[in-house]
Amino acid sequence: MVATLLRSVGRLTQSGKGKGPDLRLINLSRLPTFLIQYPRMKLLLIGSGGREHALAWKLAQSPLVARMWCAPGNAGIAEERLAKHGALVECVPLPAEDLPKLLAFAQQERPDFTVVGPDNPLAAGIVDLFQANGFKIWGPNKQAAQFEGSKAFSQDFMERHGIPTAKSGTFTDPVAAKHFAASLAGRCAVKADGLALGKGVLLTTSVREAEQAVDEIMVSKSFGAAGQRIVIQELLDGMEISLHALCDGKVAKLFPTSQDHKRALNGDAGLNTGGMGAYSPAPFLTDAELRTVGDAILQPWLRGCAADGIDFRGLLYPGVMLTKSGPKVLEFNARFGDPETQVYLTRLKRLGRTPPRELRRPARGPRTPVEQQRQRVRRHGQRRLPRQLSERQSHHRHRRCERAPKHQSLPRR
Ligand code: AMP
Ligand code: GLY
Repeated sequence: MVATLLRSVGRLTQSGKGKGPDLRLINLSRLPTFLIQYPRMKLLLIGSGGREHALAWKLAQSPLVARMWCAPGNAGIAEERLAKHGALVECVPLPAEDLPKLLAFAQQERPDFTVVGPDNPLAAGIVDLFQANGFKIWGPNKQAAQFEGSKAFSQDFMERHGIPTAKSGTFTDPVAAKHFAASLAGRCAVKADGLALGKGVLLTTSVREAEQAVDEIMVSKSFGAAGQRIVIQELLDGMEISLHALCDGKVAKLFPTSQDHKRALNGDAGLNTGGMGAYSPAPFLTDAELRTVGDAILQPWLRGCAADGIDFRGLLYPGVMLTKSGPKVLEFNARFGDPETQVYLTRLKRLGRTPPRELRRPARGPRTPVEQQRQRVRRHGQRRLPRQLSERQSHHRHRRCERAPKHQSLPRR
């Protein structure tokens, strides 16, 4: 399924001169075959944020989806209606991290497909759990979700596989961590190793601040167990962009650029947040530059995954700093960005509006002359379509075509 989605993203073309790129999904008829086997799909979406609202909104447009639950969902998601027949998306009060309850729900309702929005259930292994119980689910498994679940894992991976990143060290001892921070003159990004709702990174510009940051994470344990181990990176200067790549374990296809706004307070004076607004495309890279940056990161990443036996299927979101000495990865996320998803999915045109041909027309005998004529008009772009040929007219046209000698060129069917 991911392979087919990849082909679809590969077909995203850009048009709309002067107004920035406009995404179009060209070949809608080539939906995953398993989707075609389920013309009345039941879909479970996990999560409750703006990202999941964007996913619900887009998925609800599919002509295949006959029922959709969102666990736990939110007030906006509860107002979304399915394009197929207008039913509302049903929010079920199950926390996204409560894997046993989510599995019990799946066993009761038997969704045909589950889509996971947030990082926590992925890091906890929801994909492995659902697959082990025979459910189809989209997202990286527990091993692959470590790219986001552990900054130490990611940093080690990047260094071993030659992915451009910041100079860094990983520590479980605060004294050694402070020593390393001092060697960077205190210009550091001090990061809790584990998940901390996107807030586990403290940026410092002096040795004193860096030491305070180490104490806050490792001694005061502001981020709980996530801070038992920390990664300290040199502080990078530059423009930050969010890359998104859809991966099937072997191939990674880039979405266009986007950028979110991280720092709180006017003039970027506050702490980092998880992101408070986004736009796409980001005007700092041309499409060609985006491909170059993407290749510099994704090619070694894919080779590294293959070498380490990591089967990453889902969305890889590298946060990248465009520095004077080239692009450098600050972190990897293993899911769609929030709020980046909101801008990506509103740019993605026509996904699922038109049912694939297999669903529109059940297999049957030859078309009638009227249908043939309509098809010719569609293909040859004639403006005027005769409303309805009389039976007699269509009979004669049909006969004329049949009797035409072989060398005469016929209208293409
Ligand atoms: P992370 O969760 O690692 O992406 O960090 C959150 C945010 O902190 C990033 O989006 C950047 O804005 C900032 N940040 C992280 N690492 C660095 C770094 N090495 N240099 C500068 N800013 C950073
Ligand atoms: N927009 C930041 C994130 O999704 O982590």
